[in-house]
Amino acid sequence: MIVYLNGDFMPVEQAKISPMDRGFLFGDGIYELIPSHSGRFVGFNLHLDRMNNGLDAIGIVRPDISVRQWLEISQQLLERNEGTDLGIYLHITRGDEGRRYHAFPEKVTPTVFAMTTPIFPFLGEPDSETQPGLSCYTAQDKRWKRCNVKSTALLGNVLHFQDSYSRGGNECILYNADNELTEGSASNVVIVNDNQIITPPLDEQILPGITRHLMIESLRKEGGFGVSERVIHMDEVRGADEVWVTNSGVHILPVVTLDGRPVADGKVGPVWEKARACYNRHCF
Ligand code: PDD
Repeated sequence: MIVYLNGDFMPVEQAKISPMDRGFLFGDGIYELIPSHSGRFVGFNLHLDRMNNGLDAIGIVRPDISVRQWLEISQQLLERNEGTDLGIYLHITRGDEGRRYHAFPEKVTPTVFAMTTPIFPFLGEPDSETQPGLSCYTAQDKRWKRCNVKSTALLGNVLHFQDSYSRGGNECILYNADNELTEGSASNVVIVNDNQIITPPLDEQILPGITRHLMIESLRKEGGFGVSERVIHMDEVRGADEVWVTNSGVHILPVVTLDGRPVADGKVGPVWEKARACYNRHCF
């Protein structure tokens, strides 16, 4: 695999990062995952904007790389690595000061790393006959209080995901201390009730997902869907007609069981089929 590190492309075996890098020591960094399908990126600029917002939010100086250069790096990685549906993973840390000390170093150059990563296979047009839904478990959200920042420090997310995975689940759906839906450990969550498509509002409890954004935009553009962003109690989730998760790897997928119980009749829902087709029309 060919990766990019601090200005150069190289085989992954040659990519060396110091153990003194704050990304390694503190998880002090920001990342992105940008999907590509048949060589075309989905939401490229939106991902870069979110990455820059994240860097600003935690005070990492943006690397001197223009949008055009990011695109060039990402395209180079696609070309130099095998595969048609690959994600571009970008990872920027505060850098390496040569010691472990909590305060931000005064003079340090951020470490910039990028690679391709397989994403879940693109699923094509939705098909309720062949497209199985996901099984998810739920848990109280134990992560930090700035989940709008796409931090590389993902231990909270990893532990939640593993908790679900170890029970055969595909994702862990999280709720806050007030029993309100937040998001998945690696996805945003959407429910459907009486044909209304509802997802939690953007705040510090969730990542502003690019897929979520593109989905809402495409549904509103095309019309005919009722879409709202509002607080959702977990009772509503458990009683929903449909539950979906969205992220840059799977785009939009239906959840058919929650904590071992079926969502509605346990089948892939009709609103998902229409919404997924609408999203595909606008985003691919
Ligand atoms: N995760 N919420 C969380 C906690 C996430 O980790 C992700 C994505 C999302 C969805 O964001 P987007 O639609 O922009 O991918 C929401 C990526 C895929 C990851 O960690 O690999």
